[in-house]
Amino acid sequence: MSTPTRTPLIAGNWKMNGSLGDARTWAEAAAAAAAASANDVAVFPPAPWLMAVGGSLADAGGGVTLGGQACAWEAAGAFTGAVAASMLAEAGCRMVLCGHSERRHVFGERDADVAGGLARALEAGLEPILCVGETLEEREAGQTEAVILRQLDAGLACLRSAEDPLTIAYEPVWAIGTGKAATPVEAAAAHASLRARVAETDAERAARVRILYGGSANPDNMGGFLEVSDVDGLLIGGASLDPAKFAAMVGYTPAG
Ligand code: 13P
Repeated sequence: MSTPTRTPLIAGNWKMNGSLGDARTWAEAAAAAAAASANDVAVFPPAPWLMAVGGSLADAGGGVTLGGQACAWEAAGAFTGAVAASMLAEAGCRMVLCGHSERRHVFGERDADVAGGLARALEAGLEPILCVGETLEEREAGQTEAVILRQLDAGLACLRSAEDPLTIAYEPVWAIGTGKAATPVEAAAAHASLRARVAETDAERAARVRILYGGSANPDNMGGFLEVSDVDGLLIGGASLDPAKFAAMVGYTPAG
């Protein structure tokens, strides 16, 4: 269960989905749900829709944080197709995903690339959401903890001061888009390892850092995650594309 100082963050990663019209509709639905929820809410639209979604969110009264799905590890220059962290900030983003598993495993970003993006994000005044997660092969080889702590260490090394913002997302690669979520027990174990690693260098950050779970989270299984210790929110892919499902998740309140 989240401590009172860690307000759950319910985040929708739209990936490469939806028309501009869809994006506006989803943004309005997210804003309406957020207005009635005690949880923090963020959406990560495709880059071309960021400014329009920011406009829709503002028109709907705010209350939803806008984020980018990725940023480049360089600040600017001849990097065709890439998006700079400073551009995301200027487009109205306050957060950015760093090292999402699709960036790592489809686009080949290595730990050093992810770290570079995270550093540029901090320079641009964005809060990075550092995504970590093991493949099925790595899990079956007993390497889960080693992999996610290696990925975490690469990101932590970029923090410039204790004040730099950071959120962590544990997204086991085998659970993403497969309908086969991790169990809350598996998530809790990974989250505890991640928090303990942060505590090795900064106990105060460890107490406040939000660690999200991602991977086939939906309205039916989300309660199981948010009830276990060290899970402070969700990073949602598929279910965030269904406004009714996302609204249900945004509105979640723990039993009791
Ligand atoms: P799914 O919820 O579709 O499994 O995606 C999770 C994810 O990758 C969120 O970033």
